[in-house]
Amino acid sequence: MVGIVIIGTQWGDEGKGKVVDYYAEKADMVVRFSGGNNAGHTVVVKGKSYKFNLMPSGAVRKGKRVIIGNGVVVDPKRLLEEIELLKKDGLDPNLGISERAHVIFPYHRDLDEAEENVKGKFKAGTTKRGIGPCYSDKAGRFGIRIADLMDRNVFREKLDFIFPIKEDQIKLYGGNLSTKKEEIFENYSKLGEKLKQYVGDVVFEINDATEKRKNVLFEGTQGTMLDIDHGVYPFGTSCNVTAGAVCTGAGVSPTKIDEVIGVAKAYTSRVGEGPLPTELKDEIGERIRKKGGEFGTTTGRPRRTGWIDMVTVNYSCLINGVTGIAITKLDVLGGIEKIRLCTSYGFESKIIDKLPANPEIFAKYTPIYEEMDGWEDLSSEEWSKISKIGMSGLPKEAKAYVEKISKICKVPIYMVSIGPGREDTIELKKVFQ
Ligand code: IMP
Repeated sequence: MVGIVIIGTQWGDEGKGKVVDYYAEKADMVVRFSGGNNAGHTVVVKGKSYKFNLMPSGAVRKGKRVIIGNGVVVDPKRLLEEIELLKKDGLDPNLGISERAHVIFPYHRDLDEAEENVKGKFKAGTTKRGIGPCYSDKAGRFGIRIADLMDRNVFREKLDFIFPIKEDQIKLYGGNLSTKKEEIFENYSKLGEKLKQYVGDVVFEINDATEKRKNVLFEGTQGTMLDIDHGVYPFGTSCNVTAGAVCTGAGVSPTKIDEVIGVAKAYTSRVGEGPLPTELKDEIGERIRKKGGEFGTTTGRPRRTGWIDMVTVNYSCLINGVTGIAITKLDVLGGIEKIRLCTSYGFESKIIDKLPANPEIFAKYTPIYEEMDGWEDLSSEEWSKISKIGMSGLPKEAKAYVEKISKICKVPIYMVSIGPGREDTIELKKVFQ
């Protein structure tokens, strides 16, 4: 195997950071291909937790080549903070940044805030990091790319042209401009200087690695239900986050992808607005939120929680071509007497197993559940012991739950994660040799 893609099958926050970190051990290169610093990836190494927004999770493995592809939108300030954080721990990142990636400026954040305010019931509950406005500028050809930032004259000319337009837009939406043009020019020129050593045409390097049959890991962000095309529009993010985005966001052919690993959390969570049929607004939902630490890595917002929704997981498996599933946070469900899986929806006396394009209709769908026995609430030490034994060490109910998920989506399980650390992992299939 060479090209492995890891994507989220739900609403983001599935635990992709841990899964990427686990597989990164044998990867020669870890590549991010979409999103920006709206993503929050947590990696726990020997009890120490690293929270990344932009840095590919593989960076915690010393010397590992990590690449930010052209499909990513880059906030240079945040990226430099993450570089410094790693350097402090002696993990100077071996980072490459595509010169084709777009840059997020303060006016993108101002616009994000202003756009959300005018949208009313259509607002997505964004991270306010300027992601959407930056992708809008990319599509509208108003964007400034990393390559432009590297050239003072080009940057000057583009900013002079674009800034007044953005200023007008912010005013039109009743927003506030936080940073003046000259301040942006000076600050971002300096930030660009600092990033220069990492910048290059990474497409050739990535393709060279796949040609040489090296292990390349493509790290997804967010989740399929937040994808701009396949998610619950308009309550998702502003780019494609599904497996196809690897080809456009990193510049590789679909023929270079051997496996797509879909990460599915043992339950559902989401931040932001929009319908969520299996949401639990009771004490079980609260228990899952507390036990699972379901608070946004990026914004700290409490996440909405609920039972696993297999209709959405199935859809994700279909459109991403998932070849193996990684189930995460199975331990969090311990101590709940009966566990439920949503296998279809009810609407106007019909049973439905597909997602509607219209979110107003989706909001009216009621989940139809299958119920299974839960398992006892084990301590982290007990879960650690289980990870050394493997699947046969799991409580029989937990094992049945995992098998049920695999059976419903007709995809084998590659990994079961039962704790935050690398060691709290049961690996059923080795993807990299
Ligand atoms: P944006 O990506 O900041 O524009 O936010 C759009 C929607 O996607 C909002 O509902 C966010 O809460 C959600 N979102 C964005 N990034 C993530 C993520 O990494 N995990 C979970 N939700 C996210």
